[in-house]
Amino acid sequence: MCGIVGYIGKRPIVNTLLNGLKRLEYRGYDSAGIAVVEDDNIKLIKKPGKVSNLQNSIEIEWPGYENIEFNLGIAHTRWATHGTPVEKNAHPHIDDKQSFSVVHNGIIENYSSIKKQLIKKGHKFSSDTDSEVIAHLISELYEGDFVKAVAAALKQLHGTYGVAVISKYHNDRIIVARKGSPIVIGVGNDEMIIGSDVSALISYTRKVIYLNDNDIAILKKNDIEIIDVENIPVTRETAHIDWDPASAEKSGYDHFMLKEIFEQPESIKNAIRGRLNFETGSPILQGLGFVPKEMVELSNIVIAACGTSFYAGLVGEYYFEDLANITTEVAQAAEFRYRNPIIQPHTMVIAVSQSGETADTLAAVREAKQKGALVAGLCNTVGSTIAREAGVGVYLHAGPEIGVASTKAFTCQVVIMLMMALKFGRSHRLSRQKGLEISKEITEIPKLVEEVLKSAQEIEKIAKKYASVKNAFYIGRGYLYPVALEGALKLKEISYIHAEGYHAAELKHGPIALLEERIPVIALANDVPGKDKIIGNIQECKARKSPVIATATAGDNEIEEHADDVIWIPKCSNFINPIPTVVALQLFSYYVAKEKGCSIDQPRNLAKSVTVE
Ligand code: G6P
Repeated sequence: MCGIVGYIGKRPIVNTLLNGLKRLEYRGYDSAGIAVVEDDNIKLIKKPGKVSNLQNSIEIEWPGYENIEFNLGIAHTRWATHGTPVEKNAHPHIDDKQSFSVVHNGIIENYSSIKKQLIKKGHKFSSDTDSEVIAHLISELYEGDFVKAVAAALKQLHGTYGVAVISKYHNDRIIVARKGSPIVIGVGNDEMIIGSDVSALISYTRKVIYLNDNDIAILKKNDIEIIDVENIPVTRETAHIDWDPASAEKSGYDHFMLKEIFEQPESIKNAIRGRLNFETGSPILQGLGFVPKEMVELSNIVIAACGTSFYAGLVGEYYFEDLANITTEVAQAAEFRYRNPIIQPHTMVIAVSQSGETADTLAAVREAKQKGALVAGLCNTVGSTIAREAGVGVYLHAGPEIGVASTKAFTCQVVIMLMMALKFGRSHRLSRQKGLEISKEITEIPKLVEEVLKSAQEIEKIAKKYASVKNAFYIGRGYLYPVALEGALKLKEISYIHAEGYHAAELKHGPIALLEERIPVIALANDVPGKDKIIGNIQECKARKSPVIATATAGDNEIEEHADDVIWIPKCSNFINPIPTVVALQLFSYYVAKEKGCSIDQPRNLAKSVTVE
């Protein structure tokens, strides 16, 4: 949520910051700004709207900026929490003496009391944000030692922060710090690049340092010192990022979302690669690290996640119960620590998170550890906070996901949970023969997804037909019930159509009252157990005049008698069906949103990574 960039080094400062902001724009995009130090002054510019607005203003207000030798700079792209997305609330913020400038991600919970005290001392505030207090507080506490002032200010803050601070008195350094909001430092040759995630850095360097909570780093162009808030030096390892920078480009697609939908055969192959074992039928998931005894003793699984990852968790619940015979519960990560969950002995909590930074999922990880659970992370972003704090886990290897609406991360999460269930199943009652059969079916998934992608044009035609509706229902049963929920979420996220996902049987318990000819029902009627009942549910919808779009198994032509439109899904096992089916629903949402002219990669009000509660 919100993007932070900072740069000190030999490259043109403003261009480097703008490039970083463009890479991070998916994290928040309602306003953007830049602050640079030029000799002994801070110059600042910020604008509501997208980074391109900021760039236009810079071109007008700082003509020839490419050739100006600024010393260093920080920049920000915002997702509003406190204060509307207008110029005064955009970051960077600066104190009224124009001495310290700050970009901040997170929420300062006690900002209002700090602000009142500072106002009494004569500070004049110019925004409605919580973040502005940080700049004023540092300025208030400054007595000639920049680091000391920042550390003293941070000690007074309650809440979460990832911050980068610059000062007109110290034109050779940027100070960054984190507590609950990620900060990554890219270490180059005579240059340091800061990002709230690695996408801002990968075109410049692959050498990165992740800060831990309470770390403060003092960055000069060829030196880095890390201390904690008590001024004790700490050592953090340098990691290597192996993402290809091209993977964060659109590569000819109209939108990142479409590119990511089409990448799924490849991303799923990457998620599977080297992990299936055709000797034992038990996948090799090295990162899980649990000893066989712990696997055998495992009696409960709790999956904690938010958003799309939560729905992937619901598919996982079926896998763990069906294949591994382990009682499984899927918890809303946001509620997990507040409802004081009962963690039985031999429970594993699996935190599912594409970004690995979602605040509520991270809090669930901490609560689960506190309660003595085995904790595993299922993250896409290597080195992310959840991945590091969980200690063990499985990476998705889906590559960077830039479109705000999650697509390839969902399918990789599902495939990995299938492999985990297979592994746990093999430690319990699942036979080797069955393990081998399922392993074989997993290898077929990329081909099944390719089949669905081949029907993109037909799906587009159907999508165009329904693009003007205001409401829609998605219904499913069994393994396809969570897919109905995810399908509805995709449609509302990017097309702003009000869509609800329901268990097909639940439709009768209320929502059916809403059905009429302007409300289509997307019925997941694939040829899997429960299909006959879904056909009954389709009849109920048709009787209320709702048009029905059905997903159906290729060759099952009977469905055409019942539905107005059919999206065909290649034949596969019951438990594999969620994957090709969700891909079809992703395409459907994409084309509806495209037809409506929506901002597909950056839907209004959403952010890719939600790092506040
Ligand atoms: C945000 C994103 C969703 C995502 C959810 C959880 O709401 O817009 O696409 O599913 O966060 O994110 P995570 O990174 O934890 O999977």
